[in-house]
Amino acid sequence: MIRHERLRSWIQEIEQLCRPDQVYWCDGTKEEYDRLIAQTIANGSSIPLKKRPNSVLFRSHPSDVARVEDRTYISTRDRDDAGPTNNWAEPGELKAVMKDLYRGCMKGRTMYVIPFSMGPIGSPIAKIGIEITDSPYVVCNMHIMTRVGTKVMDILGSDGEFIPCLHSVGAPIEPGQQDAAWPCAPMEKKYISHFPEENLIWSYGSGYGGNALLGKKCLALRIASAMARREGWMAEHMLILRLTNPEGRQFHIAAAFPSACGKTNLAMIQPTIKGWKCETIGDDIAWMKIGPDGRLYAINPEAGFFGVAPGTSYNSNPMAMDTLRENIIFTNCALTDNGDIWWEGMDGEPPAHTVDWKGRDWNPDSTDPAAHPNARFTAPAGQCPIICSDWEKPEGVPIDILIFGGRRAGVVPLVNEAFNWDHGVFLGATASSETTAANIGDIGNLRRDPFAMKPFCGYNMGEYFQHWLDMGDRLGENAPRIFYVNWFRKNGQGKFLWPGFSENSRILKWMCERVEGKAGARKTAIGLQPDEGGLDLTGLNIPAEGMKALLAVDPEAWKAEIPSLEEHFAQFGGRLPERVKKQLDELKVRLGAYASTARESA
Ligand code: OXD
Ligand code: MN
Repeated sequence: MIRHERLRSWIQEIEQLCRPDQVYWCDGTKEEYDRLIAQTIANGSSIPLKKRPNSVLFRSHPSDVARVEDRTYISTRDRDDAGPTNNWAEPGELKAVMKDLYRGCMKGRTMYVIPFSMGPIGSPIAKIGIEITDSPYVVCNMHIMTRVGTKVMDILGSDGEFIPCLHSVGAPIEPGQQDAAWPCAPMEKKYISHFPEENLIWSYGSGYGGNALLGKKCLALRIASAMARREGWMAEHMLILRLTNPEGRQFHIAAAFPSACGKTNLAMIQPTIKGWKCETIGDDIAWMKIGPDGRLYAINPEAGFFGVAPGTSYNSNPMAMDTLRENIIFTNCALTDNGDIWWEGMDGEPPAHTVDWKGRDWNPDSTDPAAHPNARFTAPAGQCPIICSDWEKPEGVPIDILIFGGRRAGVVPLVNEAFNWDHGVFLGATASSETTAANIGDIGNLRRDPFAMKPFCGYNMGEYFQHWLDMGDRLGENAPRIFYVNWFRKNGQGKFLWPGFSENSRILKWMCERVEGKAGARKTAIGLQPDEGGLDLTGLNIPAEGMKALLAVDPEAWKAEIPSLEEHFAQFGGRLPERVKKQLDELKVRLGAYASTARESA
């Protein structure tokens, strides 16, 4: 018997609307997970992997392979409250359309009720959500990605706050009809809707990733960002890691990059510099609050990694590979003849034969990739060999360094540091990247992705910039230092100039030394850069001109970016904070004066 009146009546209302065959309350136990996985194996929607204990492979419908940003809505009473970077719909109208879709949509299915906590159960930063779904795949993924179960119900009690998250794959089963291996609705019927004014999520028609695992992007970023602004904290698209230097001093770093730019790789970095150690806290989302000592504390609200599989290898991310040995859900990877998974970019030669993500025979001469470029692994974070012993600390870890970045073949240097917090906010606000396969759309186009939050900010982005400024004002002297990086700069022949991956530790080391006051910097028009010899390049074979090209700030190339920055800012109209506008004016002045900029030590 459910003691929570609001929860009970919501469940009843949705049951009457969606008409499932039965309602099942998830308890979050291993038995429940095993039973549901066994069901998906028995009905043919997943394949057990001989080579990886307790692991399975799912193949999605070819139309349901990534987040659908065009079908994602922030629905507020006033359109301007959603802002220019979000799709908007009037709440009443959107709900009417979606209610029609939800009516009877769970016929022939079980409606699962998943009580989950984002953040360690009982943490002062954690939030509780209840996801209703008709997808056993979603239940199993939520088991890994969040903390599911009866303990959450205990915390909720009879009147605790929760965020209702309604999900349906949008594919009722008529009597006598055979269920699809991956049920979903056609694109024009998919809706991923958020009502931040009432902390409500409605998702319909997709079973994939962030569209369906509603604790992740929908709750922990879109709804949480709106709550964080109201409540004075931050919900960010950031990994969290701890770096320890040879003297044993710890630094905590939170870094924001657009989807599929290597956040998981950086979160699990194996430093190549002697005596430095990395421990992973989170790979995708950070919730940060000012602690009693005035510093900014971060928790990872998730309990697992939903990582992009292609490109993950012992070379690029050995710690991820070791995390993936057992208890994993793989989606849209290729299946090898000996019962293992495979994807492009894995170590060694490609197998002579696999079954591709669409279930077709594949060999190295095939024209299509064997794994979908957005194929994923869902892995328990606790299985990562370098998971930090404090990763579930309820109060979080104190952040020293914030990093923004993106994937840019040109213009943007390997690293620069913000002059101050306001300039750091400007760097975040103007972050740009070439698009990847993590969302449906063209790949390789340049887009401004402020704070890597463009697809995830649940309110007007101009006001989000203001929230960052306000947080900086409150943090004052305790504010983390802000840096901007680009691991992806290329030379004229289209080759990467920087080796990336574990070598990125050299850049992190410089940042830590900046925090400690040990490393100098020179002033450029766009920020502070390592002094000559400031980066530890010991044992790395990069010619001097390569390093010069990596750090080069070409005033003409930057001047050429100004119109796109102005256009970017113009979309926010009166909601763009004056202080951010001022940063652009100051950049223009510095670029004009660049040629005569003298070396200053900062
Ligand atoms: C993700 C994304 O899945 O950003 O983390 O797309
Ligand atoms: Mn992400």
